[in-house]
Amino acid sequence: MGEKQILCIGLVCLDIINVVDKYPEEDTDSRCLSQRWQRGGNASNSCTVLSLLGAPCAFMGSLTSGPVADFIVGDFKRRGVEVSAVAWQRDGETPCACCVVCPRSGSRTVVLSDTNLPDVTAKDFQKVDLTRYKWIHWEGRNPGEQVKMIKQVEQYNTTVPPEQRITISVEIEKTREELYQLFQYGDVVFVSKDVARHFGYNSAADALKGFYSRVKKGALLVCAWAEKGADGMGPEGVVIHSDAFPPTAIIDTLGAGDTFNASVIFSLSAGKSLQEALTFGCEIAGRKCGVYGYDGIV
Ligand code: ADP
Ligand code: FRU
Repeated sequence: MGEKQILCIGLVCLDIINVVDKYPEEDTDSRCLSQRWQRGGNASNSCTVLSLLGAPCAFMGSLTSGPVADFIVGDFKRRGVEVSAVAWQRDGETPCACCVVCPRSGSRTVVLSDTNLPDVTAKDFQKVDLTRYKWIHWEGRNPGEQVKMIKQVEQYNTTVPPEQRITISVEIEKTREELYQLFQYGDVVFVSKDVARHFGYNSAADALKGFYSRVKKGALLVCAWAEKGADGMGPEGVVIHSDAFPPTAIIDTLGAGDTFNASVIFSLSAGKSLQEALTFGCEIAGRKCGVYGYDGIV
């Protein structure tokens, strides 16, 4: 067996990206500077970055058939992300997002049609050969099923020697009450600025201090905060910080968080410290903000 992979479970969608000079006003008709299709979705974007960083990785999520799915599958292949063994064909529409990226303001606005496509279930996950993975990352989406999947991995971990155990990470990005149960399940937990703000925290450091009691013993909690960089906390209870690495010009911030998560996972999975991982995450995410898409970040 080759090097073990990092598996990311979550959304893949089609991003139709419109680059604009100025964010459009409602009920106007304007031209964009350029338009492109890009494979999107947090877990899917993180796979792109892991692959660019040189980590063998795989994506597990729901896919339909049809031209959009063909584009998505082709793009996974182009990026060297394994899909076939772990993606599940389902009936339904492929999720699509209309994205407006404005380099002048640095904003990225997303209108996602998260369709009727059923998410990966614990039953699907039972078919996964866990011996192939060293790390599994869940983008919080259907937490009831995701907790069951995580428990399967925890059970598996009790049956193998420590060096073969799978590290578990989760991302809590959306402000949905049911997602907060995921705090207690990751060895590494990524919580977003949106969730932090929703709870009334005005900085990553405050969010970490406030949320840390929710994570399991020994876990690392990480919170990115756009141009302010990112903070992390481990069992010592000390806030670790990295500044952002601003590019010469902000070009495209879509997927900056997914890039950051992937780079932190890559770094920690290579045995680096939390400080090193945060710094690396901010460095690669900063580079991502300076280019369209992902080419040129490594
Ligand atoms: P998202 O909104 O995509 O979830 P965040 O805003 O949390 O992402 O940013 C993730 C990381 O990306 C930050 O920790 C930072 O390192 C980098 N980043 C984001 N925006 C900028 C920016 N304007 N300048 C420099 N780095 C940025
Ligand atoms: C970026 C992203 C896009 C997608 C949207 C889904 O983080 O994953 O690729 O359209 O968020 O919420």
